[in-house]
Amino acid sequence: MDINGWLKEQMVSAEAYDADALLENFLNEMEKGLNGESSSLAMIPAYVGIDGRVPIDTPVAVIDAGGTNLRIGIARFDTAGSLHLSHFSKQPMPGRDRELTAAEFYAVLVDALAPLKNEFEQIGFCFSYPATILPDYDGRLLHWTKEIKIPELVGKHIGAGLLAAMEARGITGKQIVLLNDTVAALLAGMAQGQAFNAASYIGFILGTGTNTAYVECNENIGKLDGYLGTGAQVINVESGGFAAFRRGPFDLQLDARSENPGGHVFEKTISGVYMGPLTLELLQALIPEGIFSDGGAAAFSIMKNLSTIHIDNLAADNGRDVDVLGFEAFTDADREIMKTVFAAVVERAALLTAVNIAAAVVKGGAGQDPEHPVCINIDGSTYYKTHRLAEQVQTHLKNLLGARGLHARCIQVDDAPIVGAAIAGLTTFRL
Ligand code: BGC
Repeated sequence: MDINGWLKEQMVSAEAYDADALLENFLNEMEKGLNGESSSLAMIPAYVGIDGRVPIDTPVAVIDAGGTNLRIGIARFDTAGSLHLSHFSKQPMPGRDRELTAAEFYAVLVDALAPLKNEFEQIGFCFSYPATILPDYDGRLLHWTKEIKIPELVGKHIGAGLLAAMEARGITGKQIVLLNDTVAALLAGMAQGQAFNAASYIGFILGTGTNTAYVECNENIGKLDGYLGTGAQVINVESGGFAAFRRGPFDLQLDARSENPGGHVFEKTISGVYMGPLTLELLQALIPEGIFSDGGAAAFSIMKNLSTIHIDNLAADNGRDVDVLGFEAFTDADREIMKTVFAAVVERAALLTAVNIAAAVVKGGAGQDPEHPVCINIDGSTYYKTHRLAEQVQTHLKNLLGARGLHARCIQVDDAPIVGAAIAGLTTFRL
């Protein structure tokens, strides 16, 4: 059987897509979202200054509510601009494994902050979910993504809820700025970008979920709600919501079974929480083709879940945990098929990711001068750890930008969400 041909028919193949046409669709959706027309891209203005100076040696509390983990602690910058972290705790993101109430969620945050209450006044809250940012720097959750289940919080002001929960425990006088993790990544990239004279900035995340923030500079910005009047406006694209592209039957099936059917469908083709499950659906659909050993077919038919990490470890042959894929029931030939299918999932994800990033570069309107490239801070375990993903993204990106005479430089900043949240916490209330 021609597995790659079959995958292409299912749209799970980079070859099933036309990158230039997709880029046009992305740009159209961005423009519509900015203009308040119906669009799959939320295009949320962020209330952050992009020229604020960061006070040194001042402690700030940081909450990093990511897709997989919740990290809370104290951060401060030293005179050299290095970030120092202390009192950090890390635990699984609440609401991922089971449904929680809002009170249970806030109790987790307050438990972590309470012992630190005398160490900080401001909190930089990196919230990796779609939230409309309000003039008081709080955010209202639009909907959950990444399979998080805390339904009471949808539509609620997340920072205000935390302040109230802290007050109920006697912790008063604190201020919170809530920002998306891509906005945090954009801010965190600025120090490196300034050092190479970057013309503009992008924060891109590909981890459990995916998203992009960029700096909008055209005449549109005067019309935006969060416009600060500095001549530029950071926009959280919510690019995981992009829907102006064709999906295959298995994408639709995965979407239908997810916590938010019909929502964030782009994310469901490229991000860490979905690539493994999509691969499993494809493998299970191949059982009737008779290409697996009997034992392998039987093992797949009862498999309930396949994590991206485990199939990726198998694909990379890195000697790490492959979980159920290591069962003796599977033959080497079965494992080769697994690798072929996952490679196609990754190749498609790489092309779509490059289109997404290129659209942000084009829309930002900078980067024509090679001496002043656009600085793209990329964060996220899926981007960096998935076998052969980053190199393929870079190849596509080079082609897409090169054809348009645009220049960009991709960078990586350790702990970008925490760095960005600390910058926002330290600068926002001083602007
Ligand atoms: C969320 C975004 C977030 C992204 C990356 C998506 O699921 O909607 O707000 O930036 O994941 O963490």
